[in-house]
Amino acid sequence: MKNNIDLKKIIIAIDGYSSTGKSTIAKQLATELEYIYVDTGAMYRAVTYYAMHNGFISEEHFDREGLIAQLNNIELSFIFNEDKGFGEIYLNGENIEEAIRTLRVSNFVSAVAAVPEVRKMQVKQQLELGKDKGIVMDGRDIGTVVFPEAELKIFMTASADKRAQRRYDELKTKGEKVQFAEVLKNIEERDFIDSNREDSPLKQAPDAVLIDNSNMNIKEQFALIRQLAVDKIKQVNN
Ligand code: DC
Repeated sequence: MKNNIDLKKIIIAIDGYSSTGKSTIAKQLATELEYIYVDTGAMYRAVTYYAMHNGFISEEHFDREGLIAQLNNIELSFIFNEDKGFGEIYLNGENIEEAIRTLRVSNFVSAVAAVPEVRKMQVKQQLELGKDKGIVMDGRDIGTVVFPEAELKIFMTASADKRAQRRYDELKTKGEKVQFAEVLKNIEERDFIDSNREDSPLKQAPDAVLIDNSNMNIKEQFALIRQLAVDKIKQVNN
């Protein structure tokens, strides 16, 4: 269903656990519907990258107050890359789309994402990005906190082992030297912190469609989610 200017657009929120393939599906869906895709995980990763490179977080310490004091100096933007077909993330004008995908950033991101001041700043920008609808946004709190009124909400899950295997394969392909055990540990730790933090914990919205993709390939997932989106757009335009 291509975007038609006469059709009312909707907001599609895709939340779920780490490495469930949310962004792969969200990107495909946005391309198919001619909607904007926003990867909110990339926004939290970008702030984490900033914190790492400016001495606010390391294996030894986390200077939360120092980072909070610098939040006004962090400018994030998405710039559409024609070849890739989605908007890549920029931090203060620098393209960091690839640099934020390392295991090191993954190891710090949940601590940074648990800081309420960081979340407040990100949510403000997310609301702005989605104000005209026609958006597919993936994250942890999109259907519960950012757009509780989203017309379509998906919640994705899969076994930790399957998710770790997918992430491990992905990191290996990129040439990162990682062990399966440390990838699994990172996924389990992020699941725990993301689900148990005070501010906007990861949880399924009551009206979200649950998809366990442990035994589904991308094609099957896309077909299912595309149908849900098409049905919802039809319903909204009735
Ligand atoms: O989707 P991802 O794995 O790139 O997200 C990285 C981290 O960012 C994730 O472990 C938790 C945090 N996050 C969040 O707290 N809220 C969001 N809406 C998106 C991500």
